Amino acid sequence: MQDARRGPLRVARWTGLEPATPGVTGRYSNRLSYHRALTRRDRRPGVGGVIGALRGRVKRAAAADLAAAPRGAMMAGGRGLGRAPGTEAAMLERLGTPGHETISTPDAEVLALLGRIAAAEPDPVFYEIGVGVGATTLPAARILDNRGRIVLFSREKDVRELAADLAALGFRNVDAAWGSPGATYSGYHFELARGFLAGALPPFDLAFLDGGHVFHLDAGAAAILKELCKPGGHILFDDYHWSLARSPTMNPAARPQTAKDYDARQIEAAQVEMVCRAIMDTDPRFRLERLAGSTAVYRRVAP
Ligand SMILES: C[S@@+](CC[C@H](N)C(=O)[O-])C[C@H]1O[C@@H](n2cnc3c(N)ncnc32)[C@H](O)[C@@H]1O
Repeated sequence: MQDARRGPLRVARWTGLEPATPGVTGRYSNRLSYHRALTRRDRRPGVGGVIGALRGRVKRAAAADLAAAPRGAMMAGGRGLGRAPGTEAAMLERLGTPGHETISTPDAEVLALLGRIAAAEPDPVFYEIGVGVGATTLPAARILDNRGRIVLFSREKDVRELAADLAALGFRNVDAAWGSPGATYSGYHFELARGFLAGALPPFDLAFLDGGHVFHLDAGAAAILKELCKPGGHILFDDYHWSLARSPTMNPAARPQTAKDYDARQIEAAQVEMVCRAIMDTDPRFRLERLAGSTAVYRRVAP
C-alpha cells in the first residue's frame, strides 16, 4: 500500500502563527501554518493520496488512505477505520474538523527530518510524545512505510484510538504500549522513565516532544529522551516560545484554574525554552542545530 522509498519530500513553507487550540492541558499548540501539502515528487497514482497535508487536506489524505486500505484491514461493523462496533470517535477522523484546527497541521520540521532519516536508515525509530489527533503521526507512518518503529506517548485512550486507526490503514509498526492514564500527575514523563528503566524502549533516531509544554512534564521527559537518543539522532521540541500567559485558551482570564495550578512566574515563562536551556543546552552530548520557527532541533553529537 505504501512505498516509503519514493524520494525526497517537498516541504511546505511557513505562513504564520495559528491561535492556540481550545481544550484541556496539552491540547494547544501555537503552530506555524503553511500553504503546500507535503508531496513526493514521483508520487504514483493510486498509492494512497498525499502524505500529510494542509489543514483541511489532512482529512482528505486520511480518507484517501482509507480508500486505498486493503480490504482485509477493514473491520466488519466498524465505521471504516477498523474500530470495533460501538467504539466511538477515532482520532484521524477528527483531522480538520471544528475544534481541532490547530492540531490538524503536521509538523513540517519533523516530517522533513524523518524523510531524510528514512532515506539513510533501513529501520528508523520515531517517537512522538503528545499525539493530538494524529496530524503528524499519519504522514510519519507513510514516510516510514512500515519500516522501523513508531512509538507513541500520550493519554492511553488517544494512543489506543490512533494506533487502531493506523492499523486499519495497514501500518503494522506502531507501538501503542506507552499511553498514560488520565490522572492529574500521570503522563508521558512517567511512561518514558518506566520504559527506560525496564530496558523496554528502543533507542530512537528522532523524537518529537509535543505534549503539555510545561516544565514539570517536559524536563523529566527530556532527561530520559537524552538517554534513549542514538548518537547522531535528534530530539525536536515544539512550541519553544509558548507560555500559559500567551495562550488564548490557557491564560488565567480564559481559564481561571490556570491561576490555581500555576504561580505568576510559571504563567509568564516560556517553559519549553526553560527545559531546553536547563536540560539540553547544558549537556555537551547535544547541540542545538536550529530553531526552526517554534521548533527547537537538537542533535546528539557525542556518545
Ligand atoms: C499539541 S498536542 C500534540 C500534537 C501532535 N504532536 C501533532 O503534531 O499533531 C499535545 C498532546 O499532548 C498530550 N498531553 C498533554 N499532557 C499530557 C500528559 N500529561 N500525558 C500524556 N499526554 C499529554 C495531549 O493530550 C495532546 O494529545
